[in-house]
Amino acid sequence: MSDPNTPPELFTWEFATDPYPAYAWLREHAPVHRTRLPSGVEAWLVTRYADARQALADQRLSKNPAHHDEPAHAKGKTGIPGERKAELMTHLLNIDPPDHTRLRRLVSKAFTPRRVAEFAPRVQELTDGLIDNFVTKGSADLIHDFAFPLPIYAICDMLGVPREDQDDFRDWAGMMIRHGGGPRGGVARSVKKMRGYLAELIHRKRDEPGDDLISGLIRASDHGEHLTENEAAAMAFILLFAGFETTVNLIGNGVYALLRNPGQRERLQASLATGERGLLETGVEELLRYDGPVELATWRFATEPLTLGGERIAAGDPVLVVLAAADRDPERFGEPDTLDLARRDNQHLGYGHGIHYCLGAPLARLEGQTALATLLTRLPDLSLAVDPADLRWRGGLIMRGLRTLPVEFTPFGADIH
Ligand code: HEM
Repeated sequence: MSDPNTPPELFTWEFATDPYPAYAWLREHAPVHRTRLPSGVEAWLVTRYADARQALADQRLSKNPAHHDEPAHAKGKTGIPGERKAELMTHLLNIDPPDHTRLRRLVSKAFTPRRVAEFAPRVQELTDGLIDNFVTKGSADLIHDFAFPLPIYAICDMLGVPREDQDDFRDWAGMMIRHGGGPRGGVARSVKKMRGYLAELIHRKRDEPGDDLISGLIRASDHGEHLTENEAAAMAFILLFAGFETTVNLIGNGVYALLRNPGQRERLQASLATGERGLLETGVEELLRYDGPVELATWRFATEPLTLGGERIAAGDPVLVVLAAADRDPERFGEPDTLDLARRDNQHLGYGHGIHYCLGAPLARLEGQTALATLLTRLPDLSLAVDPADLRWRGGLIMRGLRTLPVEFTPFGADIH
């Protein structure tokens, strides 16, 4: 790994388990590195914090996949979003200004930090309800039983999907997370069903608006402009899509990091017992920096030749900013491989940077803080039920998360909280 002439193997199973040594090599020896991805597409990986921040804010790097000229693109095998063609994929993460500016302004009017704050009691209720389902058993798979359902129910509630339909979403989302990225088969069918459902729901909410986010999206206007029904459906879809697997992995990776760092976890538990929230708040940010859910930012494409970290990038080249590598850059963070929940100088890139900065960050923070605080308080002796070496990470390109997280704890009566 330390041989400066031999790049580490990327995207293998060993790499998925612990990509950080390979990222350290890249940061040091090839900070802007052209590589062939498992799909066959050639892309640049950007691993240093300063370059990553610059790339995320560089308007010459477009989010529109039409700028990519790789022939494989047309064949639909690369996971590049535009290949799916569906109107639902024409959303914030795939478009540039001025369309992006217009749509983001409109959605920001409906999806406000205030709306998220008002939602806090419901997130707590959902969290407790899920823990109630397994608290008497003494063991659980925290991904399947907790981290997976929580965000899907939360965003469905927020959007205004009736409770009786939410298990359909759970199933469709389950299909997408299990076989993430593949545009064919079950995933395509799930996307189609979600799209059909959302289009119909938007239609209904237009006639009978409520106090939910979909009604807010329909109502939102900016200088007399409104979202079309298609745009509102695409927006609802991106909120589901961008807010789902990310939050699953924030909870999964976060709990796992705490279980592997008992000193930090005890500190957090002690601080929660006093009713203090400060360490919880800095702690969730640190967990995002230390082992965040979004390993690579989404695809960007050079619209013109440019230089990044000393490398010449040609027009049409894909650029992938490795957030996980940038957030462990020793040039930016002291002792970057150490989990320090009290870290203050922590401008991590876990939520991105620039005009595509995560729109859902307030909701993610609310869900992450509620989930971790409640788990650690209600299940104080929570521990891993398997050897860490037996845990498997999902192999996707963009997201980083565990397939399962088996835990055990002293069972309690379901009414204790
Ligand atoms: C821990 C959880 C989350 C993490 C780590 C996360 C991370 C990110 C990142 C890194 C980006 C920028 C991607 C890029 O520039 O390529 C992003 C964008 C976005 N996120 Fe999140 N996200 C999380 C949760 C959520 C939630 C809960 C929602 C909404 C319900 C959401 C909605 C969005 C949207 C709509 C965008 C696109 C913004 C734009 O293009 O203007 N995210 N997120």
